[in-house]
Amino acid sequence: MRTLVIIPTYNESESLPSLLERLRRAVPHADVLIADDNSPDGTGALADAFAESDPAIHVLHRPSKAGLGAAYLAGFAWGLEREYDVLVEMDADGSHRPEELPRLLALIPPADVVLGSRWVSGGSVVNWPASRRLLSRGGSLYTRLALGIPTRDATGGFRAYRASALRALDLDSVESNGYCFQIDLLWRALQRGLDVREVPITFVEREAGTSKMSGGIVREALLNVTRWGAGYRWRQLTGR
Ligand code: GDD
Ligand code: MN
Repeated sequence: MRTLVIIPTYNESESLPSLLERLRRAVPHADVLIADDNSPDGTGALADAFAESDPAIHVLHRPSKAGLGAAYLAGFAWGLEREYDVLVEMDADGSHRPEELPRLLALIPPADVVLGSRWVSGGSVVNWPASRRLLSRGGSLYTRLALGIPTRDATGGFRAYRASALRALDLDSVESNGYCFQIDLLWRALQRGLDVREVPITFVEREAGTSKMSGGIVREALLNVTRWGAGYRWRQLTGR
């Protein structure tokens, strides 16, 4: 299976080097694509230096900060064009441990989508304040109830997609841009009856740099999930 790990970056120069080293060691057969939004801290140039010395590492330079969703859509397009079989989402800050990636990849096939999950038995979060835990758990619970889906961790960003699954998701029509992008793709996969599985992961909060989470990101998610849920219930009621 040709595998591409896509890593979106915005100001991750402190975290990226050790992540790349760990990733190349843990999953040597996988190629890597860094999707950088012209980070002011020079993450893009740093990524270029890695790419120069390692043919498995590639860099996608984007003009300005346009959100996690847009970076992933560009990365998916890059990887699908090049016929990768499996495309992986992973944060740059070390929160998603490369050493756990083989456990996700092992399920494809038969799975179409594998979610690294903090909120299933065996999963956990290290070093998150209570407020952030509550937001993540609350967000996933609200999503489950609104959309009527069984997924425990709907917002997580450590995932593996089979290329055929991504092709089935109609990515051209995806508009969510923040972390809501993760819920959007999950919801699309479930509606299309794809085989989606959760495997426990340990999410370790970053040691360097800062989170890009914001009020706008939370609002976008809340609004979209409520809209999608209402539309779904309406179709159930009216049979349309
Ligand atoms: N290119 C690009 N553009 N990358 C971005 C942008 C953007 O606008 N915004 C964030 N990123 C990158 C970061 O550089 C990092 O590699 C990754 O996306 C995750 O960003 P963080 O800011 O570290 O996210 P977090 O730790 O607060 O959020 C975690 O929880 C979210 C909610 O559960 C992650 O696991 C997210 O994936 C998850 O959706
Ligand atoms: Mn993070």
